[in-house]
Amino acid sequence: MQSYSESLTTVKVNTLQTCFENTEGMISFEEALLLYKLAKSAMGGCIVEVGSYRGRSSVFLGLGSIDGAGVPVYAIDPHKKFTGVLGGVFGPKDRTEFYRAMLSNKCSEIVSLINLSSDKFCKTWNEPISLLWIDGDHSYNGVKNDFDSWINHMQPDGLIAFDDATDKNLGPHKLIDELIESGLFAKVTSVGKVIVIEKVNHK
Ligand SMILES: C[S@@+](CC[C@H](N)C(=O)[O-])C[C@H]1O[C@@H](n2cnc3c(N)ncnc32)[C@H](O)[C@@H]1O
Repeated sequence: MQSYSESLTTVKVNTLQTCFENTEGMISFEEALLLYKLAKSAMGGCIVEVGSYRGRSSVFLGLGSIDGAGVPVYAIDPHKKFTGVLGGVFGPKDRTEFYRAMLSNKCSEIVSLINLSSDKFCKTWNEPISLLWIDGDHSYNGVKNDFDSWINHMQPDGLIAFDDATDKNLGPHKLIDELIESGLFAKVTSVGKVIVIEKVNHK
């Protein structure tokens, strides 16, 4: 990972603002900019997203990668009927909007949709992951399952970003607390409700 704290030009921010307005999703513009910068900094391996919904975060990961090293982005979401812990209702219509978001933001060649539940195929995965973005099922068991499924595929210096990580009542917060308490992971940064962690002593 290269530094992801660069500041963006006004022209770039305005372009990204248009992309934000072109997409539907559950992250703020500031959180989307963080994903863009993290993806731009990814110098090898690939980027894996768990929970794509209608493609907003996938687009920002894709745009960041295009402006960076061009590593592939895998967007994992079954787009099946699902009700999240915050009451959000998801389903097959989201797939239509996901495709629309990829096409209208020129991300259809950098982002590959894997239209299955994240735990279905992680065992046979063989690409190192430089950035893992977890934004699927926010129950404790759901987020832990996603984390456990993918963590062994991470590059040593890889970053793991979680959405909805600042609400003490949700799974991501509890899991991050446990990971940091274990001494094996440390917080790298946070923006809004997104928290980014990394393995300690990876250098
Ligand atoms: C909060 S939305 C994702 C929002 C998206 N990241 C954004 O910012 O625009 C959660 C998504 O996770 C998906 N999901 C739930 N369980 C999943 C699983 N086991 N694997 C992959 N995706 C899952 C749901 O289908 C839903 O689309």
